[in-house]
Parts: sequence; structure tokens; C-alpha cells
Amino acid sequence: MRQPIIAGNWKMNNTIKDTKALLTDLIPLVADSKAECVVCVPYTNIQTAGEMIKGTNIKLGAENVHWADKGAFTGEISADMLLELGVEYVIIGHSERRQYFGETDETVNKRVLQALKKGLKPIICVGESLEERESGVYKTLLEAQTEKALAGVTSDELDKVVIAYEPIWAIGTGKTATAQEANDTIAIIRNKVAELYCKNCAQNKLRIQYGGSMNPKNASELMAMPEIDGGLIGGASLKAEDFSKVVKY
Ligand code: PGA
Repeated sequence: MRQPIIAGNWKMNNTIKDTKALLTDLIPLVADSKAECVVCVPYTNIQTAGEMIKGTNIKLGAENVHWADKGAFTGEISADMLLELGVEYVIIGHSERRQYFGETDETVNKRVLQALKKGLKPIICVGESLEERESGVYKTLLEAQTEKALAGVTSDELDKVVIAYEPIWAIGTGKTATAQEANDTIAIIRNKVAELYCKNCAQNKLRIQYGGSMNPKNASELMAMPEIDGGLIGGASLKAEDFSKVVKY
């Protein structure tokens, strides 16, 4: 059985003060959740968040990691720096990184391999644009994104990997893929992983989330779909009440 995983992606939101207020409210609200609950926070909030969620059921995540152990990479963050603060999960290859910061399938793959080597669990984002969806190329595109992101990852490591399928047209737009659309697209990704590794690996080890305007209203319908193992939540993760409702869909 694949345990559901709901992760908040705070993006470039929340100061330390905001973090304290949000987590103070969130911690009791999700204390009895069955799904694994993760908050992926900006670097400056990792220490505060880590101290606050110690001893709770909330896990700590970051929003990126560099592929080198250390060195001259101004503005980047290393796996050791994150691990030192108790980070367990890391988002890699979010479409905003791909779109605005030159992230490519190759750099995504390098970050994924480094995360796994160091013991961080990557949440790998894949997704198509509206144009790619409408023209029908999304299937081959998602298969290629998945294959390239996972190059060099072993089947033993697949249970530490989470893939987040996030159609770009649904992110922050209020426009969600229908539950059926999300389910069918995630099945395409899972079938690709079955082909690359084995059917059992894809079925039992790999968790695949949906992301893109997931909120308290649509969470239960999405989570009821057999292929959808969780959600990567942007906007709705910034309010304790909303996020807790998604976590407990
Ligand atoms: P959203 O963002 O929930 O605000 O659409 C999701 C994401 O970008 O991970």
C-alpha cells in the first residue's frame, strides 16, 4: 500500500514570524492525519519550522537542493546544509524553476541523484503546458520528463521518490485538472516507470501526487482516484485551516 502524502509548497512566502503563526495553528489541526504531512518551506524558515514540528507528525521539506556537495555556487543550497536542519523531503524541478530559473531535465536529474545519495527524499515535479496538453504531445513529454529525471535512480530507491504531476495550466490558476484527467495522466507516468523498472516497483513503491489548485473543495475527489497518492499544495498550504482540510481530505 502506498501511504498518501500531502506536501505544502510555500514557494517564496512566509517570514519567520508568519511561519511561527502558521505552524502554531497547523500542528494541532493535522495531529491525527492518516496521510503523511510535509511542509516545504523557504530556506530562511527551515530552522524555525524544524524546531516547531519536532515531535509532531509533520515532516520538513525544502524547495530545492544543489547537485554538488559544496563549492562556488552562489545562491544555491547543499544537501548537507538541509540535512543538518532535519530536512527529509526536497522539491526538485518545480515548473517555476524550469520556467524562470533555467532548470532543465538534466539539472533536475543531477539534483535528484544528489538528494538520494545524501538521504533526502526528492519530490520530482513534472507537468505540461496548456499548449502541450491541447496538442496532445503531453503524453510523450511527461514520459520523457519522467525518464530523464529518474536516469541513474535504482529500483531500490524508488520508495524514497515522490513524483508530483503538476499541469502548468493548473498551478495557481484556480483551474484544476478533473479528477479523471489527473488520474489518467498519473497512470501514464506510472506505466512509464513500470516499463523503466518493473510493474511491482511502479505499483508498490512509487508515490505520485497531483498538484495544481488542489484545495479543501476538490481534495477528496482527487484523493479518491486510485492512481493519485497525494498532493503538492501551493496556495492552499498558506492557510492552516485550508491545508489541514486537504491533509485530512
Ligand atoms: P497551487 O500550486 O496549489 O497554488 O496551484 C501548486 C504548486 O505549484 O506546487
